[in-house]
Amino acid sequence: MGAWEDLKGMVSVCDKCELSRTRTNTVFGEGNPDAEIMFVGEAPGKDEDAKGRPFVGAAGKLLDKMIQGIGLARADVFIGNIIKCRPPENRDPRPEEIEACKDFLFAQISFISPKVICTLGRHSLHTLVQPDLPISRVHGKPMKWKGILCLPMYHPAAALYRRSQLDDLKFDFDQLKALMDNGFYM
Ligand code: URA
Repeated sequence: MGAWEDLKGMVSVCDKCELSRTRTNTVFGEGNPDAEIMFVGEAPGKDEDAKGRPFVGAAGKLLDKMIQGIGLARADVFIGNIIKCRPPENRDPRPEEIEACKDFLFAQISFISPKVICTLGRHSLHTLVQPDLPISRVHGKPMKWKGILCLPMYHPAAALYRRSQLDDLKFDFDQLKALMDNGFYM
């Protein structure tokens, strides 16, 4: 587990972008480093920054519920973000912040070697898979990214505010369950 702990240590002291000056805690992500399923959100919010843990606010509760709905627990999967520090006032991450942080995410992906990466929301989709892909068109549809299965999903925060997006998110999790039941074979 040395390399994983080393990576955590590097994230915790990172000062590669301006967000290091305003963060309270870095948010490395958490869960099973051997997980088959990896969720990648956008960036820590206020609650995550305060606790140093991903998805612990209202959106996180919904994510937990969805994960339980497919028969898994939070500890079975890995939950992380594109960037590891909170942007002030929850603004969108800037391209240079994503650029500075990307290698940490890529290192996490290569360490975990998940069977599927579920991108949460359009920022994660656009950073990981392809810029400008309309999430409304591709959500719930498995695709390949650098040879890894990827499933674009709506962000749980969006689903908290719009009933239709909650239905979309449920659909996305149904597709994830179908992939699991099919041995992650696409
Ligand atoms: N939204 C995200 O994208 N990530 C978190 O960790 C929390 C909320």
